[in-house]
Amino acid sequence: MNICCIGAGYVGGPTMAMIALKCPEHRVTVVDINEKRIAAWNSDELPVYEPGLDDVVREARGRNLFFSTDVNGTIAEADMIFISVNTPTKTYGVGAGRAADLKFIEKCARQIADVAKGNIIVVEKSTLPVRTAESVRRILEGCGGEFTFQVLSNPEFLAEGTAMEDLNEPDRVLIGGEQTPEGEEAAQALVDVYAHWVPRERILTTNVWSSELSKLTANAFLAQRVSSINAISALCEATEADVEEVARAIGTDSRIGPKFLKSSVGFGGSCFQKDILNLVYLCQHFGLPEVADYWEQVIVMNDYQKSRFVRRLVRTLFNTVSDKKIAILGFAFKKDTNDTRESPAIYVCRDLLEEQANVHIYDPKVKPAQIFADLGQAATDADGKANDSIIIEEDVYAACKDAHAVAILTEWDQFKTLDWQRIYDNMLKPAFVFDGRNILDAAALRKIGFEVSGIGRV
Ligand code: UDX
Ligand code: ADP
Repeated sequence: MNICCIGAGYVGGPTMAMIALKCPEHRVTVVDINEKRIAAWNSDELPVYEPGLDDVVREARGRNLFFSTDVNGTIAEADMIFISVNTPTKTYGVGAGRAADLKFIEKCARQIADVAKGNIIVVEKSTLPVRTAESVRRILEGCGGEFTFQVLSNPEFLAEGTAMEDLNEPDRVLIGGEQTPEGEEAAQALVDVYAHWVPRERILTTNVWSSELSKLTANAFLAQRVSSINAISALCEATEADVEEVARAIGTDSRIGPKFLKSSVGFGGSCFQKDILNLVYLCQHFGLPEVADYWEQVIVMNDYQKSRFVRRLVRTLFNTVSDKKIAILGFAFKKDTNDTRESPAIYVCRDLLEEQANVHIYDPKVKPAQIFADLGQAATDADGKANDSIIIEEDVYAACKDAHAVAILTEWDQFKTLDWQRIYDNMLKPAFVFDGRNILDAAALRKIGFEVSGIGRV
């Protein structure tokens, strides 16, 4: 088969690399309108940082894995087309701030309608609200090109930072298709792709709507657990309880389980917030305001957690951070990724800048240009003078030198093994550490002389 994937992002790139690796007889081409991104996929420095991805791309690229900007040419030759473009939350018009913006998906569908030939299978891979496959189907049908088609929903469950592991050994693969002989045949073709390496019993087939809704539901449930434990973290800070101990105690209940109970400065990432907002929008649309409010509270709690973190920091620093140097360690939304979408670090830094602090940011994988874009600021002013309230540091010790406080916002492993004595010696006193991920050994830091605040623990 000729497989085409439209969209070379965090989902399309790693997923297609894995399919190409496992299915050498299929030719897999990932296309994108973003020339820089495609050039990066064809270079030694991939645009997506993901442990293990380099090796897989190196093995398959040029053999049966290709990255190209020739969107139309690739679609024209494809038997199976994955749509893996971004579906951000709408920022304008009806449903602004809630509904997914489907303009990129619609563009893809129209492009496919224009150039596809023969009998094709269109697979929606992007995170979409329920009933999007239906829109894709109607556009393809309405345009009436030289082809017949089936639309499948195949939501991706990989988590960034562990994408290659998740793709290699998924808990399940979900394939939603129309329940007609043609739909079942198309679903079977996709089952056969995954069956190259995924045990058959882990490949679930459902109807299209169930598959789409399952993706939103899975993310809503996971985000809800984080918001639940974060809600308890606020109570712990007000009392003598330690949220890490509470999480351990409840996590040993096999009905609850230990995962996704790590209290933090808040969840981020491209999916959780977007998917819950989508769910909220759908519930409102279907006249279910109580259900919408229920899920919206997960987001409210997450916003509260981020602003609570900053308020606590300011309070501890004698109620002012104006002109103070605050070292920010970590900017990505979680470790082992260079993705910053919805990262709590963005909100924390914005609030600190609002309080007139100077933030010195260190992250091992995020590029400076990305940080400035996320904070909505330029690296230099019109006269070319450097922005002196946001400094991106290449060296973690330089970031902490002469700082009033250090805030850990991403749980990068390297932060656990820093020379904290050296950091202490070079900081202003009293030296404060705000561990927004609860990864540091607070007792050891206190022995050095630091004043340490974690999340949900005193
Ligand atoms: C998520 C889903 O896990 C994945 O299945 C789906 O395909 C996409 O959305 P991702 O956003 O990449 O994946 O990361 P995830 O590991 O789920 O973490 C999301 C956020 O929650 C991160 O900011 C993380 O730091 C935070 N988190 C996670 C916590 O604060 N505590 C936890 O216990 C777990
Ligand atoms: P995700 O995390 O879902 O993979 P990304 O934003 O990382 O999201 O990737 C989506 C990619 O899709 C972007 O690189 C974007 O340029 C690409 N894209 C969006 N619309 C189109 C289109 N019509 N044709 C080709 N590529 C597109």
